[in-house]
Amino acid sequence: MPSLLKIVGIAFGAIALVGVVVGSITWAILASQGPTPPELVPLDWWEHTVIYQIYPRSFKDSDGDGIGDIKGIITQLDHFVDAGVGAIWMSPVFVSPMVDFGYDISDFYNIQEEYGTMADFEELVEKAHQLGIKIILDYVPNHASTESEYFKKSVAREPGYENHFVWANPIIDPNNASNRLVPSNWISQFGGTVWEWNEARQQYYLHQFAIEQADFNFREPAVKEEMLNIMRFWFEKGADGYRLDAIPHLFEADPNDYGGQYPDEPLTGNPFLTPNQAGYTTQEHTRDQIELYDVVYEWRGFADKWTNDNNAETRILLAEAYANVTMTMLYYGNERDRIGAHFPFNFDFINSLSSNSNARDFVYIIKRWLTYMPQGKVANWVFGNHDQKRMPSRFRPNMVDGLNSLNMMLPGVAITYQGEEIGMRDGYVSWEDTVDVAACNQGNPDNYLQFSRDPARTPYQWDRSTSAGFSTNTSTWLPVSQDYLEINLQAQKEATRSHFKMYKSMTRLRKEPALSHGSYHIQSLSENTFALVRYLLTHDTYALVFNVGETSDTVDLSTVQFLEEPLTVYASSVHSNRVVDDTVPRGSVTLQAGEALVLRASPM
Ligand code: NOJ
Ligand code: MG
Repeated sequence: MPSLLKIVGIAFGAIALVGVVVGSITWAILASQGPTPPELVPLDWWEHTVIYQIYPRSFKDSDGDGIGDIKGIITQLDHFVDAGVGAIWMSPVFVSPMVDFGYDISDFYNIQEEYGTMADFEELVEKAHQLGIKIILDYVPNHASTESEYFKKSVAREPGYENHFVWANPIIDPNNASNRLVPSNWISQFGGTVWEWNEARQQYYLHQFAIEQADFNFREPAVKEEMLNIMRFWFEKGADGYRLDAIPHLFEADPNDYGGQYPDEPLTGNPFLTPNQAGYTTQEHTRDQIELYDVVYEWRGFADKWTNDNNAETRILLAEAYANVTMTMLYYGNERDRIGAHFPFNFDFINSLSSNSNARDFVYIIKRWLTYMPQGKVANWVFGNHDQKRMPSRFRPNMVDGLNSLNMMLPGVAITYQGEEIGMRDGYVSWEDTVDVAACNQGNPDNYLQFSRDPARTPYQWDRSTSAGFSTNTSTWLPVSQDYLEINLQAQKEATRSHFKMYKSMTRLRKEPALSHGSYHIQSLSENTFALVRYLLTHDTYALVFNVGETSDTVDLSTVQFLEEPLTVYASSVHSNRVVDDTVPRGSVTLQAGEALVLRASPM
């Protein structure tokens, strides 16, 4: 039985069982008074929270320059309270030339001017904390902007900085000694070679992302030390945790293991990729190198020690890792001697499921995470972020309520990318307006949308006013999506039923013991409909029944385990004919395409 019951619950069950068998006094007491609910073990603040990702550039502009900023976030803090989220993770707000919109940091200790000041940041932390909302920052350890002091000093070979980056000599062309060749055939995530020639230093440096994002050398102790200084600095400023950016890229193969040469990667043979695209080579020397896990485990040790020494609340580390299931789970550590990130982000709803998936795919993929996750760890569910097509665009718009409900009802942490709570879709961004380095590097007017992350980054749609209430400026850094008159927060607050109202019901439901502490059961009922049941002795049971198909589907709820009559509707997707408190038979039920029902049932 898949169980999330904490020790107390299990002990209670065991006592009851022993009681039945031997007719002991324990059972007599239970029988006479009815079962006493087991005490719920209190959870740490993060273990069942909802984390809301803000893309600061596109959230709320307070000064009319068409760019979101920290003051803008401060003015909207009530939105998080209203939505029922417990923490916000902000994409980077540090000083940056903005080649990769903040993921190319030139000063890790200061705030980007267009986003505000250190005082604004401090105000944000203080006000958020007053409201009970935690602040998670983006930590970008893999690379620094080539405008950073670190890089400039390294170029100049200043003592202490010589080896801060991955520098390599050219390979001499055997046919023409004056010809310079790159050290290996490795390809950057944004296309083209990872090696960039530096005239001043007369060496190549490595960049796994844009040319302006030079990779730090994690075999250099001074770099590791500096990373801890950065972590400590923002902990002291009040950050409640970090999202660890681009972690699989922390190390590359060590030339010392290959006779002093950087080893080429074999070709994958993927016919859909050009020689300049990541994935053309296997990436076996540029991703998932085993050394990186020790760095993550060290960071966890550092964060825990800092928390302890300062008698502070838990600081969490969340690993951004696109990797196979084994390499992903390693970020958690194991059950024995390794403690890693609090969790690696679960990208299965992005990588393994889409509008083509059926109910069995959903059940299988959800169970896969829960099966591979080491014992005692906390699961998490991600439906979108600033690098991926938005959730309703990857799936179907009529699935928004079902997907948000699934996110909220699965065990562990729910993660929402800004706009998912109102079903925001990808915006249209023309080639002329395209600013994402990934699209500009690899695309042309005909194919750029295949690479562009801009459609997922268009401004948040607050209301029907100028620029959807994002900015007083009619011109914004990315265009506001044309659908803002229909899809915006204000309209959804006013409507009797809306995605936002459903979202709020679901974050509220998370306080129920069955969701925070209960067991789960997940089962496909047909090709297109599945059920997720959350139950905990003596507490109400809740079940999600979700048709992920494109046609209506009739299923038999009497086959769902752990579900007892009577069944009433707790919440239903916007287009459902069933409304709150309707009774649903534990028998044949028809769901429209995309319809989701959240049912309340008696305790098991
Ligand atoms: C992952 C971030 O989410 C993405 O936006 C960025 O381009 C890369 N890491 C490089 O930092
Ligand atoms: Mg602004």
